[in-house]
Amino acid sequence: MAATGSGIDTTTVRCLGADDAGAVQRLHARLDQHDSYMRWFGPQPKQLTAFSDQLCECNKRRCALGAFIGDELVGVGNFVMLDGVSPTTVEFALVVAQDERLHGIGTSLLDGLEDEAYRHGARRMVAEVMGENAPMLQVIRERGWAHSLRRDGSTLHLEVKLHVAE
Ligand SMILES: CC(C)(COP(=O)(O)OP(=O)(O)OC[C@H]1O[C@@H](n2cnc3c(N)ncnc32)[C@H](O)[C@@H]1OP(=O)(O)O)[C@@H](O)C(=O)NCCC(=O)NCCS
Repeated sequence: MAATGSGIDTTTVRCLGADDAGAVQRLHARLDQHDSYMRWFGPQPKQLTAFSDQLCECNKRRCALGAFIGDELVGVGNFVMLDGVSPTTVEFALVVAQDERLHGIGTSLLDGLEDEAYRHGARRMVAEVMGENAPMLQVIRERGWAHSLRRDGSTLHLEVKLHVAE
């Protein structure tokens, strides 16, 4: 789908499927307590296998993208369609392996999610971000979405309109 970097560090991004569930589980299992809190606002799900299986289901309502260096899964971005919301809205989240951060992988995953969400018929993307999550807020600001953040206590609510990719 997309590639960033050069030479042996090239990252590719593609849709995940059932065969990727084990790698998704291992990636999430390696997150430390702080990252888990940033991702889930609490501890990681007890049923990480079920979580990973569901995350890898791609259908009309949900999709997950994986970033790979070679065969190794180093990041995951996913979205789920929200019920009864107009315009059609998806909520997304990102996770990048600790050793592979600050190389633009989170940004590449977000690029892919934006395109994929539009293809799924979504016209709005939302996310909940902890106010202390500087890396994620930086990804959002770099994208020019700072004005789409609204504070709600200790969290920030992101809400952006989706447009056709140019
Ligand atoms: C948020 C997260 C996905 C970002 O992934 P990433 O691959 O490091 O993101 P990128 O490399 O695309 O970084 C984009 C920008 O953020 C900046 N950034 C990344 N990590 C940072 C940090 N720890 N402190 C300050 N800035 C940081 C980068 O410098 C980059 O800015 P630049 O374009 O000026 O270089 C990753 O930190 C992560 O997995 N965190 C834990 C889970 C989480 O918080 N998920 C978000 C839930 S919505």
